[in-house]
Amino acid sequence: MTQSSTEPLTEFKKITVVGTGYVGLVTGTCLADVGHTVTCIDIDEDKIERLKKGIIPIYEPGLEQLVKHNYQAGRLIFSTKLVDSLPEAEAVVIAVGTPSADDGRADLKYVYAVAEEIGKGLDHYAVVITKSTVPVGTGEEVEKHIKKHYSGEFDYASCPEFLREGSAVDDFYAPDRIVIGVRNDRASDVMLDIFKPIKGEKVVTTVESAEMIKYASNAFLATKISFINEIAQICERTGANIDEVSYGIGLDNRIGPKFLKAGIGWGGSCFPKDVKALGQIAGDTGYEFQLLKGVLEVNSNQRVHFIDKVKAHFNTGIKGKTISVLGLAFKNNTDDIRESAAIDIVQQLVEAGATVKVFDYQAADNARNELPEEVIFCEDPYESAKDADVLLVVTEWKEFKELDWTKIKDILKEPVVFDGRNLLKPSKMEELGFTYSSIGR
Ligand code: UGA
Repeated sequence: MTQSSTEPLTEFKKITVVGTGYVGLVTGTCLADVGHTVTCIDIDEDKIERLKKGIIPIYEPGLEQLVKHNYQAGRLIFSTKLVDSLPEAEAVVIAVGTPSADDGRADLKYVYAVAEEIGKGLDHYAVVITKSTVPVGTGEEVEKHIKKHYSGEFDYASCPEFLREGSAVDDFYAPDRIVIGVRNDRASDVMLDIFKPIKGEKVVTTVESAEMIKYASNAFLATKISFINEIAQICERTGANIDEVSYGIGLDNRIGPKFLKAGIGWGGSCFPKDVKALGQIAGDTGYEFQLLKGVLEVNSNQRVHFIDKVKAHFNTGIKGKTISVLGLAFKNNTDDIRESAAIDIVQQLVEAGATVKVFDYQAADNARNELPEEVIFCEDPYESAKDADVLLVVTEWKEFKELDWTKIKDILKEPVVFDGRNLLKPSKMEELGFTYSSIGR
């Protein structure tokens, strides 16, 4: 990805990005890749040292190469010292975590701590940009935290992130839109300059609207999936086929074909956290967001329905059975297991007394810390399938489609597959002689 394919820049900026988690590292690296000089800050010294050596803490296609390339080119700098980078910075991006507090609210302590540090170190005009997902009204609070220590000029911008894990680099270069929430033209000019090399509509809004667009987008997408999962439930009970139904409704431009894939429900670091937080934001204003409660409930029920089907298969109970589980990540192309339906399912199977043999292309290392000791981690899908009573597909890795399913049929104790991601073709699986069950078809 080079600059030649994009509009020429009038001016490259010096940008500091605070937080090298998912959002911060991808954003910082890609901003450097388009030509800006970016300093990525993290308090974790080990992580920063590893990044300098090109060791990436997450699995994200294309990212490692971009980090190495831009680090060597001198446009991407890694440091633990925010204060040292501030004298030069024309923009400072806050991209630290906003985990769920116990009541579902976004915990903003890291965001505010960074805002205070920025206030202490800033000595000239800069735009302070929040990329972390924060509730409506946070912008104003961030400004207050900065002003506690700094009385000079600065502007605030909200620039929510819409990257998906697993395709984050591509999403950065081809976004559906870039949302820029600002209070004045000076700030929007800086923001438009920063994002000038990126194609895609730039939507300039108020800070508050930008903050809301982020939550509303994630909540809507989660709602879309929960909706199709409920339709899938009805399909199962009526004989309709969810693939045909999704295709049929997705052709309506007003609905669109994406995020209509039925399965065991959504997970990850964003949808669960953001849907809950939006419910809280609404509640704080005295408004009850009724729809979202259903969206969450449907999502957790999808896992329960799936496990119930597996349990129903064994007349004599699941205890003592060997179950092969393909997939641990919350979706394909990532090693992220946060709020992964797959992890939850493995835990429930172990609790029910099954011997569980798992395999994932990237997420096994992360899963080892989460799963009970007795779970057996396998080197490949075939080792996982060998001598199992039943096989479950629970992450939508495309590679699972390409497996030698004839071989799997031969090494399974019984040729029984439960596909929680509707990844495999029912007619093909039945032709091969499997007893095959999926979601809503
Ligand atoms: C999501 C949003 O898609 C991004 O736009 C947003 O920037 C990000 O959250 C965030 O807030 O940081 P991500 O969590 O990476 O991105 O993953 P998605 O691709 O949205 O998938 C979320 C979950 O929904 C996964 O568990 C996936 O398996 C599931 N899913 C997705 C379905 O079950 N069906 C579908 O049709 C699509």
